[in-house]
Amino acid sequence: MIIRITINGRFIVRDVPPNRRLLDFLREDLGLKGTKYGCDQGECGACSVILNDKIVTSCIILMAQIPLNSTVLTIEGTDSVLQLIQEKFKEFGAAQCGACTTGMIMAATSLLHLNPNVNQEEIEEGLCGVLCRCTGYTKIYDAVKEAQKQL
Ligand code: FES
Ligand code: FES
Repeated sequence: MIIRITINGRFIVRDVPPNRRLLDFLREDLGLKGTKYGCDQGECGACSVILNDKIVTSCIILMAQIPLNSTVLTIEGTDSVLQLIQEKFKEFGAAQCGACTTGMIMAATSLLHLNPNVNQEEIEEGLCGVLCRCTGYTKIYDAVKEAQKQL
């Protein structure tokens, strides 16, 4: 099937198998390795990207499910909110092993795109689809709150 899709602002036309997963398309076909493999079952959130302004787990999205002319934002994108959150994650030491970090940053970006004024409870709820074994979440929440101040 032919897909027409804009990824990180770049318009792409490709012939792909309908059952190719978005995660594999990004990592293997486009070389965008920043999106991570985790559970491969839609449970851990490590593979999260923003598809048409919604956070999705790319390991369970098939290319055939993506509408024509969709847009995808990944961790490699140049979106200003995304870049600000990445900076704050570094500043606050919000990553340890890094397995969840891409997913967390993408979930936080999606959250602040939708509402830059989210409160603590809404931040926790917005990030709850991404699992972190390492940080205890506090530094992650602090990084997101600090990013909010600069929006
Ligand atoms: S790898 Fe996709 S949700 Fe875990
Ligand atoms: S930093 Fe290791 S899982 Fe979150």
